[in-house]
Amino acid sequence: MAFRHSFAARLASAAMGLCAALGLAGLASEAVAQDATKGIEEYRKMMAADPFSNPGLLAVDAGEALWKTARGTKNVSLETCDLGKGPGVLKGAMAEMPRYFADADKVMDVERRIIWCMENIQGLDTKDIVKKAFSGAGQDNSEMEVLASYVSAQSNGMPVVPQLSHPKEKESYDIGEALFYTRAGPHDFSCQTCHGSSGTRIRLQELPDLSKPGKEAQAAVATWPAYRVSTNSIKTMQHRMSDCYRQMRMPKVGFGSDAVTALVVYLMKQAEGGEVNVPALKR
Ligand code: HEC
Repeated sequence: MAFRHSFAARLASAAMGLCAALGLAGLASEAVAQDATKGIEEYRKMMAADPFSNPGLLAVDAGEALWKTARGTKNVSLETCDLGKGPGVLKGAMAEMPRYFADADKVMDVERRIIWCMENIQGLDTKDIVKKAFSGAGQDNSEMEVLASYVSAQSNGMPVVPQLSHPKEKESYDIGEALFYTRAGPHDFSCQTCHGSSGTRIRLQELPDLSKPGKEAQAAVATWPAYRVSTNSIKTMQHRMSDCYRQMRMPKVGFGSDAVTALVVYLMKQAEGGEVNVPALKR
């Protein structure tokens, strides 16, 4: 893991240097801020040009090893977990999630489904895994982070195909859409407040417009888990949702809750046709 930390630290300091330099310039004018955005984009491209420079790939490898490890009271691996395309089929599964699972009678995203398989296939007690689903600063990636990365990366290059034919999927979409526009909390924010138009940003961070389908939603949604350069770590979509709720000063949302799943259903619909690219590199 020393490798991971030193390598990631070098990347992070490069990114920070870039951001700091661009940040100062960014004070000057909107035009300069545009340049900064281009600069960050350029940096991402350089990393992408050499796929092995993406530290997120280490999470994918760790996830694969864990996926294939026999554990739990049943002492089996997750290799027979059904992610919607049949037991053990990972290819393209994430591109069609969340989806309805009859065995659980619930709509589930990747993370929620992994927990379900741990409990039902492996007989694992997942309390601690759920509690530690999001790694903290300086900690190694969590089990959920590496497993979600491994599973999701098996859909790379495939288009997002939202699943909305089952009544529970439709219901989940409607709830997700309603949540997206629900204003609440001390600031009276909704998701739409920050993600309802193009070209807005908080400091240097561009805020994608998630209120309509199209390129911005595709690039923002079909790319999680993502490697966040600013924190040297892999973050999952569930984490992204809870972090945005934190920014709204809302109470903590439950990991794998119906509400968060509904938001992901809504977001995947906005990202329809986008190409899965996991783990993407983010700020
Ligand atoms: C106060 C403003 C604010 C609100 C409200 C907000 N977000 Fe965010 N959101 C952000 C910021 C800032 C980022 C970029 C985070 C970063 O990289 O530091 C972000 C990132 C995201 C991303 C990832 C974008 C990408 O390019 O990868 C998604 C998806 C997202 N938000 C969805 C939501 C949803 C859904 C809600 C409502 C539950 C919401 N956000 C509410 C500020 C907000």
